[in-house]
Amino acid sequence: MSKKITAYKVTKIFPSPRGQVVAVKDFSLEVEDGEFVCIVGPSGCGKSTFLRILAGLVPATCGTCAIHRSPDAPPGKPLNSVVFQEYAIFPWKTVRDNVAFGLQMRGVPKKERFRIAADWIQRVGLKDFADCYPHELSGGMKQRVSIARAFANDPEVLLMDEPLAALDAQTRAVMQEELLRIWESDRKTVVYITHSIDEAVLLGDRVILMTARPGTNKASFTVPFPRPRDLSLSSTAEFAQLTYGIWNLLQEEVHKTMEGRAR
Ligand SMILES: Nc1ncnc2c1ncn2[C@@H]1O[C@H](COP(=O)(O)OP(=O)(O)OP(=O)(O)O)[C@@H](O)[C@H]1O
Ligand SMILES: [Mg+2]
Repeated sequence: MSKKITAYKVTKIFPSPRGQVVAVKDFSLEVEDGEFVCIVGPSGCGKSTFLRILAGLVPATCGTCAIHRSPDAPPGKPLNSVVFQEYAIFPWKTVRDNVAFGLQMRGVPKKERFRIAADWIQRVGLKDFADCYPHELSGGMKQRVSIARAFANDPEVLLMDEPLAALDAQTRAVMQEELLRIWESDRKTVVYITHSIDEAVLLGDRVILMTARPGTNKASFTVPFPRPRDLSLSSTAEFAQLTYGIWNLLQEEVHKTMEGRAR
């Protein structure tokens, strides 16, 4: 396997009226082609900042960060698609047009892009809402539109920032299984941020733990469970053991974050 993503000692410092905020410090990450890597860390530790740097949306203050294009990728194939923490879809476009947007930008003919969009709309359970506008949808449904759009775009790498956080528990469970199914069928390289250790272990090949801000590498766990996986995995003793091990380390960082806030 080859490295699809390489990030080395990424640091991000934001200026602020109260001085500088060091959001991320010397964070490094390597992701293999076709690997599903989850990042967990306490709130405010710099996860979204790192993802935005990776997506090329904001520059790092120092360090290097790259997504490596496949030599055999067809021309026009996007390098990455991002599903943002706060759903980012166009309010003036229907669900279908939102999902097909990336394809439209690439000049994919209308019939073809609507065929691809319809497939993804169905997969995320929005078949009856294809002609609706975002204001007619719940928060969770809007987030499913973002997810469908990212997959429909068929990028080399998917960057997902808590894509299921806005969903109710039942829809979230269904979408976790759906994400497993989708990913196991095409094995795209994914960097996936989540607050849920269970979700990280269920979905990921590896779980990267970040420290409290400034976020840096705390630990890395290989998830040994074979695929295909489904939710029944989460009721096994091995699953509980791994998630507990991660929580043990994460809680130290969460406490640091809470103490920092209390001061
Ligand atoms: N544009 C910005 N300007 C100034 N400070 C920022 C900016 N964006 C993020 N920060 C600060 O950087 C730190 C990390 O923020 P970030 O959103 O990356 O955290 P996070 O780990 O994604 O948190 P959460 O889990 O709550 O989503 C926070 O202290 C935040 O206030
Ligand atoms: Mg975030």
